[in-house]
Amino acid sequence: VLGTCMGKKVIAMQGRVHYYEGYSQRLITLPIRIMKRLGVKKVLLTNAAGGVNRSYEPGTLMVIRDHINYSGSNPLIGPNFEEDGPRFPDMSCVYDAGFRTCLREKAQENGIHLEEGVYMMFSGPNYETPAEVRMCRILGADAVGMSTACEGIAANHMGMKICGISCISNLACGMTEEPLSHEEVQATADRVAPLFKKLITASIVNIAESL
Ligand code: HPA
Repeated sequence: VLGTCMGKKVIAMQGRVHYYEGYSQRLITLPIRIMKRLGVKKVLLTNAAGGVNRSYEPGTLMVIRDHINYSGSNPLIGPNFEEDGPRFPDMSCVYDAGFRTCLREKAQENGIHLEEGVYMMFSGPNYETPAEVRMCRILGADAVGMSTACEGIAANHMGMKICGISCISNLACGMTEEPLSHEEVQATADRVAPLFKKLITASIVNIAESL
């Protein structure tokens, strides 16, 4: 969808293709490469994720500080897109620190609780096992999901400025008595949508105008 949000030109994706749907990560990040060619310089990545950090609750919003790509693949595999970026890109600051500060400030101004943490990407489509969730925590993850790291890698490769927000839609497997269900994930995402919208509309002008 092409349009404007708070007076800023925006391309918004109505959903995304996931790695677990059977396409290569190179292919699923094609929209990001096309956006770069259309002149987009800044990307906001959003997702629903399982909370690994014990202090999180379903419905928590988390700004992504960094990610762990545990998906078993990488969008940069294959010949390098030389015009886009280097063969061996640096990954020391994928998620822009200025964007993170902006989101934190806007969250505070609007009374929105916002955590900051590390997102770990699995391929899916199954949810993780309790042992995998324990592993995620030991490895330093705060949230786990099936997307985003690959888009982050591709956008970072092209030198785009990136921010990411996870909606913690459920506590990760093994953290509650209940089995995970897609219905729970969807219901929480729907419940948090207005808050998510508020945070993004409050932040978008600052994000768009940042250098
Ligand atoms: N695990 C992986 N992906 C997810 C989860 C989860 O618990 N919740 C929403 N997306």
